[in-house]
Amino acid sequence: STTRVAIVGGGPAGLMLSHLLHIAGIESVVLERRARRDIETTHRAGILERDSVRLLVDSGVSDRVLTDGDRHGGIYLRFGGESHHIDFDALTGATVWLYPQTDVFTDLADARDRDGGDVRFGVSDLEVRDVLDTPTVAFTDSDGVAQEITAEIVVGADGSRSICRDLVADRRQYFREYPFAWFGILCEAPKSSPELIYARSDRGFALISQRTESVQRMYFQCDPTTDPSAWSDAQIWEELQTRLAGRDDFSLVEGTVIDKSVLPFRSFVQTPMRHGQLLLAGDAGHTVPPTGAKGLNLALADVRVLAEVLEQALGKNDPDALDTYSDRVLDRVWRAQNFSYWMTTMLHRSADSSDFDERRQLGELATLVASDAGKTYLAEGYTGWPA
Ligand code: DHB
Repeated sequence: STTRVAIVGGGPAGLMLSHLLHIAGIESVVLERRARRDIETTHRAGILERDSVRLLVDSGVSDRVLTDGDRHGGIYLRFGGESHHIDFDALTGATVWLYPQTDVFTDLADARDRDGGDVRFGVSDLEVRDVLDTPTVAFTDSDGVAQEITAEIVVGADGSRSICRDLVADRRQYFREYPFAWFGILCEAPKSSPELIYARSDRGFALISQRTESVQRMYFQCDPTTDPSAWSDAQIWEELQTRLAGRDDFSLVEGTVIDKSVLPFRSFVQTPMRHGQLLLAGDAGHTVPPTGAKGLNLALADVRVLAEVLEQALGKNDPDALDTYSDRVLDRVWRAQNFSYWMTTMLHRSADSSDFDERRQLGELATLVASDAGKTYLAEGYTGWPA
């Protein structure tokens, strides 16, 4: 069969693109390796930038983010045993929303269903061919039947283990590895704080996030080889309590741990993000470390631009528009790379850091929270730069 745009990957990037193309009257097919239920139960990040919320609401995906999500006017930076509030709203007039990626995915999948979108979950043996000419995607569908779809454009929105990115012939890859990972938990407990706490301690970073009134999300920096199943609830709480301990009246409320996992951690960019009729979006083209929750937001920013470019190229018959895509998105990609790297290195501890490094890090944090200019810089990056 044929379609105009074959989208490899049915995560938030692929589904949002398919939704935006539908609005522009451009037909697409989305192919996703995983089952819908599998994606819905894999916990990911939970913070949406202002423009990500606008995109979900204004494009008609859903306004559930506004009713079920929580608006956050700022965050706390915690170090030296004290919390310092960064008031995004007062500093920039912008805020973020706490709304889990799993809910964003559900809203998008429901919107595609509602609008009659062609989204195929559970496909296997996916192969992309002829991206310089007439792209074809071959796969086995969820009933085990071999299929082939020919398209004008293929979009690789197939995540951090993308197969599409390997098809970019003149690719250049930029990496940064970190000597740590995050241990993430979900627990049954009430909120300990009205907003998120990013904590720097002598034992390393910790993040107190939220999900609902009765379920909380927390992370702490760990060794990348950590086996989460080897950690008891008591050990997890001991570690978190130590990293959040302080001289103020903050108290971390404990509860039963209902999910634990270790998250990979790296910075990665591949350029260019276009090769012939193939374009990359989201994690297929770039990965950020999780500090600051930029990954999903960056993916949505990519597809906002990509939908515009494809509308120009396919809807208005102006194929030169494809040439602009890579440079247009890479500007934000590198800003987000810097922001995520900066938030990470400002708050994490590495095994080889010297006494000098430790004191310098505290000096940076102290300077930041004492300066409206410093706090505004953080607030602008966290809430997201305008398009
Ligand atoms: C969450 C994850 C992040 O990486 C972050 O910076 C903030 C929140 C979360 O999962 O809630």
